Amino acid sequence: MSKSAGCCQKCVEYLFYYETPKTLVIPNIGVGCVFRFTQLLVVITLLSVTTKVKGFAFTNTSDMDPRFWDVADYVIPPQGDRSFFVLTNMVVTPKQSQSRCPEFPSQSTTCVDDCDCIEGHSDPRGSGIQTGLCVNYSSTVQTCEVLSWCPLEIDTMLPEHALLATAENFTVLIKNSVTYPKFNFHGRNILPHINSSYLKRCEFNRATDPDCPIFRLKHIVSEAGEDFQDMAVKGGILGIIIDWSCDLDWWAGKCYPKYSFRRLDNKNPVNNVAPGYNFRFAKYYKTADGEETRTLIKAYGIRFDVIVFGTAGKFGIVPTIVNLGAALSFLSLVPVVTDWFMLTCMRKRDLYNKQKVSSLSEDSESMSMGTTYGTQ
Ligand SMILES: *[C@@H]1O[C@H](CO)[C@@H](O)[C@H](O)[C@H]1NC(C)=O
Repeated sequence: MSKSAGCCQKCVEYLFYYETPKTLVIPNIGVGCVFRFTQLLVVITLLSVTTKVKGFAFTNTSDMDPRFWDVADYVIPPQGDRSFFVLTNMVVTPKQSQSRCPEFPSQSTTCVDDCDCIEGHSDPRGSGIQTGLCVNYSSTVQTCEVLSWCPLEIDTMLPEHALLATAENFTVLIKNSVTYPKFNFHGRNILPHINSSYLKRCEFNRATDPDCPIFRLKHIVSEAGEDFQDMAVKGGILGIIIDWSCDLDWWAGKCYPKYSFRRLDNKNPVNNVAPGYNFRFAKYYKTADGEETRTLIKAYGIRFDVIVFGTAGKFGIVPTIVNLGAALSFLSLVPVVTDWFMLTCMRKRDLYNKQKVSSLSEDSESMSMGTTYGTQ
């Protein structure tokens, strides 16, 4: 009982009693400290990324003719770059021609007679240039007529289920190479041990095929914590992150890329205004009698951005010594801070100060109790 109490007492003393050397303050001592850090870090300065998507789809819906889709139809633009877009849903407005039609009804476009419409007026949020006429939009509503590509697109009729649902099974091959010029290191995400027959049949899987550079789109989206079919309706932006951070020392093993996936756009904007990712494009035709028409497509889909980053490091004796020195000099700051606290903030600071600090005057023979603060 008493033995353990004594032990405990020792522990408390060891843990909480602060020992500090007594300092003799002698005037005219100057001390300088220089801390210097260097870090041997080199960021990738040279890299290249190319992508190639594969897969087919067949759609047969009420508002469009049955249609077969290949990569040239659903990847826009077609060249495989650091960023690629896969079309998953759309609003199609066929057979538009340059003509006149009634504007959609809104507070500023409904009219009673021609006086309410201004010829030549164009509202950037409207659909065209007003002709100055007030015409029937429906049997009950009149709106200003506009010169535009008519009939106008009604983009509120977006299919509730993604048109190209099959896009979840498309795959993408990502080719990426990086260089750390300082260490003369060249890396490629198609690793040296991958042969072409493996590349033909493999698919990335963190557990079974972590080195395969071919990714199923559904797998990418689900690793980012999203549901492909959900995201495909209104579109979105997904980051494919390739991390080449490596220790290039010979004992550290090979330098391989690490893949991760993250959704980059805001899935649920606070006010739910303008979610997703979409843009418009058109295909132009000439009819037999020479009239120009176009098919307008408002395309919704997922844009995949390949983001490559990394820092590489290598052991060097000089930076190691410098870092060690810096670490040790930080340790030596601990008593300085503690002493400062003890001598300025504690209630009994005057007593501690008297006991701790003696001042030696060089031209007096006897020591006097000083009040100067000193450390170490
Ligand atoms: C994708 O492929 C899987 C298995 O091959 C199949 O079960 C699934 O129905 C396909 N997805 C679509 C949307 O066709």
